[in-house]
Amino acid sequence: MLKDRSALMGVLLPFLLPFVSPNELSGIQEQTPPLTGYPPCDALISAGLADNLLLASSENYEPRVHSWFAANAQYRPWCFFQPQSAQGLSLAIKALNRVSFAGDWHIAVRSGGHGPPGSSNIANGVTIDLGLMDGSTYNPNRSFASVEPGGKWKDVYYNLLQHHNVTVTGGRDGGVGVGGFLLGGGNSYYTGRNGFGCDQVVGYQVVLANGTIVEANAEENADLWKALKGGGFNFGIVTRFDIRTMPTVELAYAQQIVSLNRSDRVAEAVVRFTENSKNRTADSLIPLYSYDATDMEGGLVILIQTNSLGDLNTTSFNGVNAIPSLVPSDLKLMSLADAANASQVEPGGLVASSTLTFVNDLELIRQSHAIQIKHIMSLSQKMDPSSFKFQVFYQPIPTNFAEHGLRNGGNMMGLDRVTSDAIMWTAGMSVSPGPEGEAALAIAHAQLAALTAELKELTIEHGKDVELIYMNYADLSQNPLGSYGADNVAFIKKVANQYDPKGFWQQRAPGGFKISRVVD
Ligand SMILES: Cc1cc2nc3c(=O)[nH]c(=O)nc-3n(C[C@H](O)[C@H](O)[C@H](O)COP(=O)(O)OP(=O)(O)OC[C@H]3O[C@@H](n4cnc5c(N)ncnc54)[C@H](O)[C@@H]3O)c2cc1C
Ligand SMILES: *[C@@H]1O[C@H](CO)[C@@H](O)[C@H](O)[C@H]1NC(C)=O
Ligand SMILES: *[C@@H]1O[C@H](CO)[C@@H](O)[C@H](O)[C@H]1NC(C)=O
Ligand SMILES: *[C@@H]1O[C@H](CO)[C@@H](O)[C@H](O)[C@H]1NC(C)=O
Ligand SMILES: *[C@@H]1O[C@H](CO)[C@@H](O)[C@H](O)[C@H]1NC(C)=O
Ligand SMILES: *[C@@H]1O[C@H](CO)[C@@H](O)[C@H](O)[C@H]1NC(C)=O
Ligand SMILES: *[C@@H]1O[C@H](CO)[C@@H](O)[C@H](O)[C@H]1NC(C)=O
Ligand SMILES: *[C@@H]1O[C@H](CO)[C@@H](O)[C@H](O)[C@H]1NC(C)=O
Repeated sequence: MLKDRSALMGVLLPFLLPFVSPNELSGIQEQTPPLTGYPPCDALISAGLADNLLLASSENYEPRVHSWFAANAQYRPWCFFQPQSAQGLSLAIKALNRVSFAGDWHIAVRSGGHGPPGSSNIANGVTIDLGLMDGSTYNPNRSFASVEPGGKWKDVYYNLLQHHNVTVTGGRDGGVGVGGFLLGGGNSYYTGRNGFGCDQVVGYQVVLANGTIVEANAEENADLWKALKGGGFNFGIVTRFDIRTMPTVELAYAQQIVSLNRSDRVAEAVVRFTENSKNRTADSLIPLYSYDATDMEGGLVILIQTNSLGDLNTTSFNGVNAIPSLVPSDLKLMSLADAANASQVEPGGLVASSTLTFVNDLELIRQSHAIQIKHIMSLSQKMDPSSFKFQVFYQPIPTNFAEHGLRNGGNMMGLDRVTSDAIMWTAGMSVSPGPEGEAALAIAHAQLAALTAELKELTIEHGKDVELIYMNYADLSQNPLGSYGADNVAFIKKVANQYDPKGFWQQRAPGGFKISRVVD
């Protein structure tokens, strides 16, 4: 073996050598690194931005590939571009505008890498990775914190807490990124009091398609400000979010764990909680059904309970707490930062998720559970039941969630069209990576799509379907923007066209939900 290999090396080496170090051999001293042969990467090198590039051979390239939450999002782009400022990003966008786009390659933009696979990374092209723009600052003379897109929420919370004793309406899982979360809306522990995360954004700094840097707030580019609130990646790359702050108050937090065989009682308690939640805006309940396909009797319901004013005496959870628990739970005080740090889902699975919304209704929650079991059993016939995990969240969306959006200048989510208390249903699937993993994921994803379609049918049959498909949980096959209503679709189209008249993002950055694909 060894002998063969060295013989092969002997043949190849003379041919390989001249390419190893062309500058040295030709005696030319170059200031910039050699061209890569990849048009977007070369355009960035020519623009003097080589220091911000990671090429496949760079030491930090492979770790960055693995920093996406989903294993099936871990593509290897031709290069990563990692800007450190809006100015650097602006230069890059200008350079990318000058490249011929004739090849079949595209641009992706990433903040925290927790979005759906394929939305924030690209195999053929350049991925703009905002991970180095992860700071957050607060000036006590102002009512808002300035937060860069590439940070994780736990780092934002720790920084604002330790240095300023303030906090913001952001993610619950500490590993989620600022950028995608806020552009897609942002459901948080504070939604009852403040609305979605986007409703608390008082200003954005944005790099437009032509590289121009603009501010968008209630006074300046107000249409862009409004469109960015839940309108996704359709207008430009956000390089700073100015988010209204609150004084930090410790969160009252509990995780109640009950057997999945109590699902009927859980459904009742969830419906009651949702009905009462308009007057209890500081309380939030996140019911999570966690199935175990290897033992259908062994599933759990995890009921995350929080009060964002630190009220340990809240009576909102009495209904759920009356259900016999496997693990007793008590509300405990903890900082939002610690709660976010402690609630990080382990990355690295092959994942898919999808979402629907329906009227807050006992029968629908019960029947959805039965449909879920049916599909898990079906999937267990097709693949090893121990190779996948399946979970469903039933998140209350009472009608008052919409009011904050309206009060703060409006958002794109069309919540005002949801006229009854609703439940946002989100199913998430995770398949173990490995040699068979991708094939198993294709089967599991198909099951998830079929389940979602069947549940949608059921909600329509009952006359209790709600159009809303929340962008942050949507599968790539779904149409969240289209579900936000004709007015919002028209508005997003108008604003996208105004700030990007050539359709640069629409055509060159296909990731995420693009308004040009929504047919009205
Ligand atoms: C474990 C987990 C927990 C979650 N918990 C919640 C939750 O509690 N509440 C909730 O609402 N959602 C939640 N989500 C969903 C999450 O909010 C979305 O997946 C969100 O898109 C992630 O943001 P990101 O920056 O990490 O993602 P990325 O994958 O980096 O980006 C997602 C999308 O946004 C675009 N984008 C990112 N940054 C920018 C920018 N600066 N300018 C323009 N476009 C940009 C990307 O191109 C991509 O299309 C959760 C997701 C996971 C995986
Ligand atoms: C806040 O305002 C005061 C009074 O106007 C000023 O002295 C101080 O420098 C300001 N602080 C910051 C951080 O800008
Ligand atoms: C934050 O508040 C706590 C408790 O009131 C206090 O001990 C701490 O000094 C404050 N920190 C800052 C940076 O203001
Ligand atoms: C539900 O399951 C638990 C164990 O997970 C068991 O102790 C309990 O008896 C079961 N209850 C019913 C009603 O089946
Ligand atoms: C909720 O509050 C409103 C007024 O704020 C009141 O009219 C209503 O009766 C309350 N509902 C419940 C269930 O307490
Ligand atoms: C909660 O109840 C306890 C004891 O009943 C009391 O000491 C405490 O002040 C109450 N807390 C709040 C926030 O009402
Ligand atoms: C976050 O959680 C981890 C794991 O529990 C812990 O080791 C770490 O100290 C926490 N970070 C902070 C800043 O508290
Ligand atoms: C960049 O695009 C914006 C929005 O279309 C436009 O207002 C601005 O004039 C453009 N700037 C340049 C330099 O072309």
